[in-house]
Amino acid sequence: MGRVVDIAVIGAGAIGRTHIDTLAGMPRFRLTSIVDPMPAGAVLAASLGIPCLPSAEALIDSGLARAAIVATPNETHLPVSEALLRAGIPVLLEKPVAESLASALRLIAIADEIGVPLLIGHHRRHNPIIRAAHAAIHAGRIGDLVMATVTCSLAKPAGYFEAAWRRTPGAGGPLLINMVHEIDLLRHFFGEIAQVQAIASHARRGFAVEDTAAVSLSFVDGGIATLCISDTAVGPWAWDLTAAENPARFPAHPVTAHHYAGSKAGLSLPDLTLWEPKGEPDWTKELRPTVLDVIQADPYERQLSHFADLIDGSGTPMVSVRDATANLIVLDAIRAAADTGQSVTVDLSPLESLSGTVFNNGMGP
Ligand SMILES: NC(=O)c1ccc[n+]([C@@H]2O[C@H](COP(=O)([O-])OP(=O)(O)OC[C@H]3O[C@@H](n4cnc5c(N)ncnc54)[C@H](O)[C@@H]3O)[C@@H](O)[C@H]2O)c1
Repeated sequence: MGRVVDIAVIGAGAIGRTHIDTLAGMPRFRLTSIVDPMPAGAVLAASLGIPCLPSAEALIDSGLARAAIVATPNETHLPVSEALLRAGIPVLLEKPVAESLASALRLIAIADEIGVPLLIGHHRRHNPIIRAAHAAIHAGRIGDLVMATVTCSLAKPAGYFEAAWRRTPGAGGPLLINMVHEIDLLRHFFGEIAQVQAIASHARRGFAVEDTAAVSLSFVDGGIATLCISDTAVGPWAWDLTAAENPARFPAHPVTAHHYAGSKAGLSLPDLTLWEPKGEPDWTKELRPTVLDVIQADPYERQLSHFADLIDGSGTPMVSVRDATANLIVLDAIRAAADTGQSVTVDLSPLESLSGTVFNNGMGP
């Protein structure tokens, strides 16, 4: 273990507070400061006996932090991260990497130029359930993917939308805030996405951003998937409401939200149940369920341990800025498909035309 890293949390809102709680149990880090311009940030910092600074620039000038977690609204991700990276401060940046592809591409260029560690906070990738599922899929346990279905019903209370950015096109909406996690996992498990179709609706909440969407997509390597997402539909069928990742915020319900059906077997998550035929696949014969082994661990803690390794100069980011930008490209395709009613081809060429660090969606051996 390297020396203890002085770290700041920038943006002490919903997820910033999760990071602050997680850091409290991690000896590799010492939380030295909070950055947030709003009074609630100062109240929280005072309760922890640490300073609250008004901006990333003030943090840099203070010399208080050797690393930072950026948990601010999406449209601030680029300017805040750029300031920190240029000051030589490694960054764990919350997902989505940015509010737009243009900002994400700019961040890739800056990260390549500067070479300071930048990890994107698709924290689910650090979850042992996801690691076990990835291992099973890549060991061929489900065979070729035929179809996947992902459900995400997240009935958010009215107060959640008091933060204007969550209602603002280009910054909020469940596609950018929540579906980006699902896209990240589908790419992680099954490779790049070739084509998407989508329907989006804002009929329930009446905001400018969507509240509900249904997406169909196909993978380059074969197989199709559907995703249904809503921030107003009531039901327990969502990763957040089943996986027990953050029990202080979200109670976990004993149902499944992800279903992957392959040529050999099916796999459901987060219960990690593999459904195999006893002989040749035959819909009239009972399937045998096996719960795959996993040792549960807090994915936010795992993510921070990985960040500490990166700061110590060990390894490459589990989720790179390029990889997270590919998620954004898929989301843009989904929005274009919803707007036009047409199928949209996912075009990753903006990433391929950039030279520099590896593009890694974890699909390798
Ligand atoms: N990994 C996850 O599961 C997860 C979960 C929730 C949110 N997020 C992401 O985290 C980010 C924040 O989301 P949230 O729900 O916590 O938002 P939030 O609105 O609850 O909190 C954002 C905080 O940032 C502060 N802030 C705004 N501009 C700032 C700036 N320039 N410098 C410092 N502080 C600033 C605000 O005052 C606020 O306290 C978003 O990008 C979101 O997509 C990730």
